[in-house]
Amino acid sequence: MFFLEFALIIAIDGPSGAGKGTIATYLANFYNLKHLDTGLLYRAVALKIIQDNVASDDEMTLSRVALTIDLQNLKDPALRHESTASMASKIAVFPNVRDILTNQMRLFCQKVLPPYDGFILDGRDIGTVVCPDAHLKFFITADSETRAKRRHNEMQQRNQQIGESILEKIRERDERDSGRGVAPLTPAQDAYVIDTSSMNIQEACEVAGQIVNRYLKDRKSQSEAENSKAQVLS
Ligand code: DC
Repeated sequence: MFFLEFALIIAIDGPSGAGKGTIATYLANFYNLKHLDTGLLYRAVALKIIQDNVASDDEMTLSRVALTIDLQNLKDPALRHESTASMASKIAVFPNVRDILTNQMRLFCQKVLPPYDGFILDGRDIGTVVCPDAHLKFFITADSETRAKRRHNEMQQRNQQIGESILEKIRERDERDSGRGVAPLTPAQDAYVIDTSSMNIQEACEVAGQIVNRYLKDRKSQSEAENSKAQVLS
């Protein structure tokens, strides 16, 4: 496909609170990429089943709900609640639910066209499962105490109710996301791992931006070298 050959495709994974969403938004704006926060799809299924009182292990109903998720309609503030996140992590263990949502993500990618220069997805299995051929993969991490502190500040800013055990919940979710049998949270072999524990968000964005710049520069020199080789041969 002509566009995809020249598009920039970036995959970002990592646990919650490490800064991957902010870095993805920054890179999307800077490099003119269409952005999908894939956690929102899992959260949308979770929110619907909370609202409809569906059991979190009713895989058949979860799959049916997953089929109805509309990517244009992921703006409900309740999607951001900690209870929704926790349920999202629980329902994300089901292979069928993952397959359905992964398909939705790939459809999103296929529909990205100019004027965008490519796309960027952030989540838990983007570099390993959803976009294994991404040009650049990042794994953004930070120690759990730092992430809990960040989550606390974020919730304060959003005026959300803050429970006692943010750190405990973060660890619980990390364990579930990393320990599940299908598409666990793990860095792709070719991912750049950035530990943001001792960085502020601006520094973290700059580190990721430098890696993208270096990749683009190398890609340009490579394509120029190939062009001049082709001219010599013709
Ligand atoms: O990124 P987030 O906190 O919004 O994600 C919520 C949950 O969704 C996360 O704990 C696990 C699940 N998830 C997933 O399994 N795979 C993804 N690509 C994105 C999210």
